[in-house]
Amino acid sequence: MSKFAVLGHGVVGSGVVELFYKNKNSILKKAGTDMDIKYILDLRDFPDSPYAEKFTKDFNDILNDDEVTVVAECMGGVEPAFTFVKSCLEKGKSVCTSNKELVAEKGDILLSIAKEKNCNFFFEASVGGAIPIIRPLHKCLAGNDITEVAGILNGTTNFILTKMYNDKMSFEDALKLAQELGYAEKDPTADVEGHDACRKICIISSLIFGKHVYPKNVFTKGISKVNLADVATADNMGYAVKLIASFKKLENGKILPAVMPMLIPFENIISKVDDVFNAVLVTGDGFDKAMFYGRGAGKLPTASAVMGDIIDAAKHKVNVFSQSWESASDDSFIECVESFTAKWYFRTAEKNISEYADGEITDANGETAFISKEMTFAQAKALEEKLSASAVIPVLA
Ligand code: HSE
Repeated sequence: MSKFAVLGHGVVGSGVVELFYKNKNSILKKAGTDMDIKYILDLRDFPDSPYAEKFTKDFNDILNDDEVTVVAECMGGVEPAFTFVKSCLEKGKSVCTSNKELVAEKGDILLSIAKEKNCNFFFEASVGGAIPIIRPLHKCLAGNDITEVAGILNGTTNFILTKMYNDKMSFEDALKLAQELGYAEKDPTADVEGHDACRKICIISSLIFGKHVYPKNVFTKGISKVNLADVATADNMGYAVKLIASFKKLENGKILPAVMPMLIPFENIISKVDDVFNAVLVTGDGFDKAMFYGRGAGKLPTASAVMGDIIDAAKHKVNVFSQSWESASDDSFIECVESFTAKWYFRTAEKNISEYADGEITDANGETAFISKEMTFAQAKALEEKLSASAVIPVLA
């Protein structure tokens, strides 16, 4: 018998409870062991819940109950989640989390405690919602040198961009809808300004490179400055505009993670990923390319990934050491974004731009839009200044 607890009864936590009881019979078969939820931690009252007797407001009920061997943390934020998760792991209870902020800020510490206590700290739900990406990276694709990752890792911003451009909805209405659907963070600035996508690419980068990558060391630009007129011009030129989180292993041995809006050529299937869907394209030496696609946010999609972790934790009571990374004392292994290389979309009032262009030059409401030759971020910034450009956006190769 494996008893587990769910910390937080918000969007994801309530989804975990709902999914578990909906599919309990098949889950027990897959787990090969009897399982049940013993506690649900939340400071609010849920008197009408069919599981009202499982609610507690006291974390110590869970921590001190030896029958609870697995804990699902679905509270979000660093504190008190970090203190709770750390205490559980120190007691040898495995923890499964959907909390990307926690993993991106404290993953190295929590993974090391899990290893020492021979339990697990699982976080499949922290990246890409329902999409399996953490296990594929450290298990299925473990035989490869993974050199590149690029994708849409934030459902809210993809949803907003889709609604604004395809359905002509205002930013405010699209964001409100994303909040109602349970996609957005408590503070949606984290979505809009790219911080959520940054946390997710930090987790992926840490897992691939084996050293903790902190969000503060990753260049991050969100969608707040994306102009819909540029989205329309890009569309005419054969590109979609998406918020892309990327990771690259460079020849100098460093890595370059970054988050920024990018132009995606229509030939690239990432350009067709709309709404709340996420997509992650992974490149490695043996398999070449693999694409992961699915719902990137929302109650049951995210609960699906947490539930998978809970079942895995109930089944496997020894530490999965392939899913770990070391702490990093500095950021010297992270390349500066100035050397990020791409072709770039420019919009400028300057007409004399043919020497910089590589391909189509088009009218953009009286200004000129063009895709540049390949250049670094630093060179693109210099050209932006020279041309007094109103928009500069990289193109995903
Ligand atoms: N706010 C996040 C998103 C939730 O929109 O992707 C899933 O991590």
